[in-house]
Amino acid sequence: MNILILGSGGREHALAWKIKQSKKLGKLYIAPGNAGTGILGENVDIAPTDFSEIGDFCISHNINMLVVGPEEPLVRGISNFFSSEDRLKHIPVIGPSKEGAMLEGSKDFAKTFMKEFSIPTAAYKTFTSVNIEEGYAFLEELRAPYVIKADGLAAGKGVLILNNLEEAKHMLRETLGGKFGEAGNKVVIEEYLHGIELSTFVLTDGISYKLLPEAKDYKRIGEGDTGPNTGGMGAVSPVPFADKTFLDKVCKRIIEPTLKGLKQRDITYKGFIFIGLMNVNGDPYVIEYNVRMGDPETEVIIPRLDTDLLDLFEGVAHQTLAEKSFTISPETAVTVVCVSGGYPDGYTKGFPISGLDKISDSIVFHAGTKHKDNATIAAGGRVLAITSLGHNITDALRKSYQSISSIKYEGMYMRRDIGQDLL
Ligand code: AMP
Ligand code: GLY
Repeated sequence: MNILILGSGGREHALAWKIKQSKKLGKLYIAPGNAGTGILGENVDIAPTDFSEIGDFCISHNINMLVVGPEEPLVRGISNFFSSEDRLKHIPVIGPSKEGAMLEGSKDFAKTFMKEFSIPTAAYKTFTSVNIEEGYAFLEELRAPYVIKADGLAAGKGVLILNNLEEAKHMLRETLGGKFGEAGNKVVIEEYLHGIELSTFVLTDGISYKLLPEAKDYKRIGEGDTGPNTGGMGAVSPVPFADKTFLDKVCKRIIEPTLKGLKQRDITYKGFIFIGLMNVNGDPYVIEYNVRMGDPETEVIIPRLDTDLLDLFEGVAHQTLAEKSFTISPETAVTVVCVSGGYPDGYTKGFPISGLDKISDSIVFHAGTKHKDNATIAAGGRVLAITSLGHNITDALRKSYQSISSIKYEGMYMRRDIGQDLL
């Protein structure tokens, strides 16, 4: 099979790394990819949202399957684009339809969906500028901290957690006033859930599903979970407190009703579901759905899959996933993300990275890198994700930090405390 992967981060490098190991692979292309994916396959200079260019490329290069990494093309309807064009409809897309992608594309849609199918989540109400006064009144009914969410995609910045009522009212006004552009035309205000966060991941063909390894990521830039949010500074899988009892509750109370709801609403969903959860005294609540894999979670989940990923994807495409064998390695995987100095605010890029050839105990997934003048250069906020497998978290962390000690580029920063809270 010839495969085209859309995206350019650590997630896509991890997917490419796994697909490269498949016996079923013919040629592998990544659009636009990074320096790491360029070693595994051929990078193609097409934006993941340029549907007609992607379609042309798939025809001219005889692509047999499209694997979509990021959410934006899905929310904009790339699956529908492929299924509606005669020349493209034979090419399966790993990623949900536009309607399914609303689970991530609209917080209000996701909350309404969960309410309809009795999926546990924080109590909420949705407001627009027309009923902002009711929004203020709802905030007054709640207790701090206040959670305000822009309805649409806001590049991971649309969730505000505020400790003070006046500040919350101010931010409600700002969000409805266009702080996040159109994404904030509607705002979800919800009850704050107290607990420990983790994420579970599902691959589904719309009929059955495989529960992928769970993971915990580290969102804040600073050690001890301080400072601004980032795309993710590291991840660990498995998560020790996600025992069988807890995961059984996730399957029964969340995943199965979610799939049933999608079916009931006649929504085509063939792809990943990433469920952000809060463990509240042993009970799972949904914080958010994403309609793709997480980054950097993919960098710890994929290395634990002892199964041919393309075989699973074929199962997704042909709705035969239930027949596919599926094994997960009992090993622990950790990843530590190395970022550019200044990230997540302004940062400079273009610095050469040295030492990548010295790594033997870890897998180096590239996140924001480019190949230039025979060198690998840092080309993004998140630059590398250094993944290691081990008997336990300590063992895997030791390998990742040891590997990182060989890598250098100007301004390099990473958190030293990934996984420490789980020990
Ligand atoms: P989201 O983009 O919806 O995942 O929200 C970003 C982060 O905000 C989450 O990872 C949580 O840490 C936090 N968060 C969102 N909703 C809630 C909630 N209802 N209660 C507590 N924390 C929340
Ligand atoms: N690491 C969080 C995300 O991919 O959204």
